[in-house]
Amino acid sequence: MRKKIVLITGANGEVGHGLIHQIAAQPDPLPIVTLDIKPLDKSLYSLISRDVSGDILDTKLLETLSTEYEIDTIYHLAALLSTASEFHPENAHRVNVQGTINLLKLSVDQGMARGAPVKFIYASSIASYGMPDLGIKQAAGDVREDDYLNPITMYGCNKLYCEHLGRYYAQHYQQLAATKSIGVDFRCVRFPGLISAMTVPTGGTSDYAPEMLHAAAQGKPYACFVRADSTIPFMAMPDAIKVLLWLSQAPRENLTRYVYNVTSFSRSAEQLAGMVKAAFPTAEITFKPSDARQRIVDSWPQGLNDSAARQDWGWQPDFDVDRAFNDYLIPTIVKRYQGAAQ
Ligand code: SER
Repeated sequence: MRKKIVLITGANGEVGHGLIHQIAAQPDPLPIVTLDIKPLDKSLYSLISRDVSGDILDTKLLETLSTEYEIDTIYHLAALLSTASEFHPENAHRVNVQGTINLLKLSVDQGMARGAPVKFIYASSIASYGMPDLGIKQAAGDVREDDYLNPITMYGCNKLYCEHLGRYYAQHYQQLAATKSIGVDFRCVRFPGLISAMTVPTGGTSDYAPEMLHAAAQGKPYACFVRADSTIPFMAMPDAIKVLLWLSQAPRENLTRYVYNVTSFSRSAEQLAGMVKAAFPTAEITFKPSDARQRIVDSWPQGLNDSAARQDWGWQPDFDVDRAFNDYLIPTIVKRYQGAAQ
């Protein structure tokens, strides 16, 4: 009999790190197999069953995994983030879109073979939105899932399209089976900017928030690449992990949508800098906007309406902005860089 597993793609990224810890800490967890282009951080080895270094574009590798394992759930986190994708748009398309199709196909094949759908948890993003201008962004406030879907980045286009692909694969095989639930049980969240005390992301555009915090904690000056008034929604990493676990555990019949907004707090870059300075009074934070990255942040909504997630699967963040800084970010980051700042 094949071993039943949870597959995490992009496991070496900052969401992957937290997710592995949380899944492994659950009572009686399924073994975790990780798939990442880079070998997994060795500190995670004791928590997983197997680390596969490889490419989600390698269909032979995916077929081998599919033959070897019964995949119960896929957390698909692997992606090239928004800023990185602008440098290599076609490569981003390959990784972000073709990689996702490959995994959706693997899921439906597995689901059909075992007669029960594979749960597919897809991490999408505020980048799926595109606010036409700053005036409309401010007036719109918290946007709903179906509004303003005109992304300006390749990453955003990729994420939005993959949300549709997930819906397509979920519905198409349901229809073929008529009454039986087979194929893929696709569930997606649109994350705001994520802030972790343990890791700094690479290649994203919301990265200025974690970057200014990590710089301050190490006693380094930081030049923020967006204007002081730039405002987007954020979430502390422990809540992001909770989102993924809660969504995967929600009873299917409670879900009224495939794609859910989730958020915790919206703050301007200046407000975030103020909170960082309150914790690290010697921090030097200046504002030197980059045109390209500013355009991206201006195109993202100021806030997200996440009432559907709250209603359907009881989502609510543990960390508002004060708790995020006072109870999680600052104490954890101080410990991480002990001695570096002040
Ligand atoms: N954090 C991502 C980025 O900045 C957005 O989801 O690209």
